[in-house]
Amino acid sequence: MSSTAAASGFVAFLLSVQVVQGTNDWGVTYTSTEICASKGSTVELPCTYKYPSRQKTRYTTVTNQLWFTEFNGYVHVDLRTDPQYSGRVEYSDDKKDCTLTITDVRESDSAEYKFRFITNHDGGSYTGSPGVTLWVTDPGLQVKVRESPYRDQIECHIICHRPDHPSYIWYKNGQKIPAATSSSSYYYSDSFSSADSYSCAVAGHEDSPSPSVCVVGQSCNRVTYTHRGICVFRGSSVDISCTYSSNGYDVDSKFWFSPERSRQWLNPSQPEDLGGDSQYDGRVQVITERGRSTLRITDLTESDSAQYRFKFRTGSFEWTSSLPGTTLTVTALQVQVTRIKVYQSYTEAELKCHSSCGPAGRSSWFKNGEEITGVQMSSYKGVFYPGDIISCALKGHETYVSPSVYAPKPPSVSVSHAGKIMEGSSVTLTCSSDANPAASYTWYKENVNLKAVREEAQLVFRSIQSSDSGEYYCAAENELGRRTSKNISIEVTYAPKLPSVLVSPSGEIEEGSSVTLSCSSDANPAAKYTWYKMNQTLTPGDTYHFTSITLEDSGIYHCKSENEYGQITSNPVHIDVQYAPKLPSVSVSPSGEIKEGSSVTLTCSSDANPAANYTWYRENEDSTKASGQIFIITDFRAEHSGNYYCEAQSKRGRRNSTLYLLAVAGKSTMMINIIRLTLVVVGPTLLLLFCLWMRKKKTLSSTTETHEPIETMEIPLEAFNAHLVVCPHQLESDPDYTNVSALNSRRRSTSM
Ligand SMILES: *[C@@H]1O[C@H](CO)[C@@H](O)[C@H](O)[C@H]1NC(C)=O
Ligand SMILES: *[C@@H]1O[C@H](CO)[C@@H](O)[C@H](O)[C@H]1NC(C)=O
Ligand SMILES: *[C@@H]1O[C@H](CO)[C@@H](O)[C@H](O)[C@H]1NC(C)=O
Repeated sequence: MSSTAAASGFVAFLLSVQVVQGTNDWGVTYTSTEICASKGSTVELPCTYKYPSRQKTRYTTVTNQLWFTEFNGYVHVDLRTDPQYSGRVEYSDDKKDCTLTITDVRESDSAEYKFRFITNHDGGSYTGSPGVTLWVTDPGLQVKVRESPYRDQIECHIICHRPDHPSYIWYKNGQKIPAATSSSSYYYSDSFSSADSYSCAVAGHEDSPSPSVCVVGQSCNRVTYTHRGICVFRGSSVDISCTYSSNGYDVDSKFWFSPERSRQWLNPSQPEDLGGDSQYDGRVQVITERGRSTLRITDLTESDSAQYRFKFRTGSFEWTSSLPGTTLTVTALQVQVTRIKVYQSYTEAELKCHSSCGPAGRSSWFKNGEEITGVQMSSYKGVFYPGDIISCALKGHETYVSPSVYAPKPPSVSVSHAGKIMEGSSVTLTCSSDANPAASYTWYKENVNLKAVREEAQLVFRSIQSSDSGEYYCAAENELGRRTSKNISIEVTYAPKLPSVLVSPSGEIEEGSSVTLSCSSDANPAAKYTWYKMNQTLTPGDTYHFTSITLEDSGIYHCKSENEYGQITSNPVHIDVQYAPKLPSVSVSPSGEIKEGSSVTLTCSSDANPAANYTWYRENEDSTKASGQIFIITDFRAEHSGNYYCEAQSKRGRRNSTLYLLAVAGKSTMMINIIRLTLVVVGPTLLLLFCLWMRKKKTLSSTTETHEPIETMEIPLEAFNAHLVVCPHQLESDPDYTNVSALNSRRRSTSM
């Protein structure tokens, strides 16, 4: 086929004797009658032919010319239409020259080749017979039994290549002669019988023995197969034929068998007729005619590929040859694809029409059912669009079309799980697409290629995670193109994840402000929420709202998130409501009377969040006396006497306490005692007068609020003290003094 093979191939013309057949003006001339060639080489079988230019009044026209190797029924097989030779044979339609060229010769080409031509005259056809025998050898060995010049001896003759020191094997009637010499000559003491046939082979090449020959006469017991090997298409029929002779005896039984079917036989050493084998049921037929048997097998399948042998029996003899028969290879054409380049919408590819009998010869190519014109080679390079369907057939054998090749059809995607997919479950996505050659698959998630790990038709999640939720699709690709599937949505359901809690507005919370707590948690299906304060259920819902938050709303809150798969509680959130200092209370130590020179400790306490700082004042003095919660006067003197108060201040606000009178014991005690006496002795009338006088004085000297700075100090200390202690309406004006103090000590301890 290739020039390299032709150049390296071995071709020998064994008998270069010109043989002219025919009479008168009719004839076919072969330059050589035996040609030996090594496998793979190119062989020419030179041939010329002649015919009379006219017969009677009619000019001669050659209507058909052909080479053949077998007499198949009554039909001459044209090698150009034989699949075994397809694309490998060539002969011109020249009026004189009929030279046959066979390229890339195979062992199965070994045969006798004959040329036949047909003219327009009645019965005006002519076959050049005997033809040219071609021997194709691999490993370069072909043997032939030749009679030696000595009558009691035959010789094994190696045609073509000769091994260095060959060892020979001799067969008599198809059976190995155990005691025979390993030399190329074989003889007996007695002369050869006309009943026996002989064959020889070179040791190590027992599969290529010589044909069986009769040493005496021509009707010895023998079987000669027409072909050593035949290659045919699946679905077609084949004729496997042989010639046989039985030394003139009547044949009682004869049949074809296949050694490969010996397991089906009752006894593996007793061949059984193929006609009784169920594998060939209704598909075999044996055609017998004078010394020739043809096994016809129809509707061939690849499993019919086997060796076939013929067997016969006469009254006194049975042909049970161990020599090889005809090897049948049933092949199917196949389009092989080599991708060249992929473009957006099409692919450039090279296709080869291939059969298991070797590279196919001239081929016909079909695209979408139509033959591609102008393409005849076994390979075809072209442009393929999605949807294009391509097949091939050998020229002249368009009935046996290869299976089509095509780009993947849009892939379909399936999920192993019906319905909801629980987190942690095992899920498999499967991509499938009709494609020839078979497609390879790639998975994508939201356009992210998962190829690195998942270049398969199946995408397997051993334990699916919520993060695996999303849109998936797959792509199917072969050498002819690529298609993507529709998106498939994977939704993984799962119990809520740890909820996150949001306090809005963020930062510090001021009493009276509007505050919202929100709970959110990743869950599928969506979670339901419940808010809790100190483990007490508040309202259901993902938010909890305080229109005006109060001190009492301070505390630990958490939310619970739940769906059908589970529930989870958020981390606690601490709500800390800040407020301005409440009315401070002042306490004095020691309580009771202050002795001159003693030490006095004043303590100011105010409920506040954040904690307040403190400043001390004396009435009518702008300057601060001290800062800090505790104010100590170490050496108390008369001039220290006065009304003291403290201011509690935080960033949320400030507030002054009520006045607190500090005075040295003595005059004041006496005065209080006088007032007490008066109250007892003089009675309520005088007290009323005293109180009216007090009110009048106070109205003149100050504003209504007692803790406001008092600008004048005209009121006698004793009287003021009495008013503080006694007058009922003044007690009413500070009704929550004691209450605040109580609250203060209960709720919040203030410290410096
Ligand atoms: C709330 O309940 C949890 C668990 O039942 C418990 O550990 C915690 O102390 C409780 N908190 C309050 C403030 O009762
Ligand atoms: C007391 O607190 C206020 C507000 O936080 C601040 O402005 C002030 O300086 C503080 N005074 C003292 C003496 O720490
Ligand atoms: C408390 O008293 C001081 C000193 O007289 C004054 O400066 C301040 O404004 C007073 N605070 C309030 C809240 O009235």
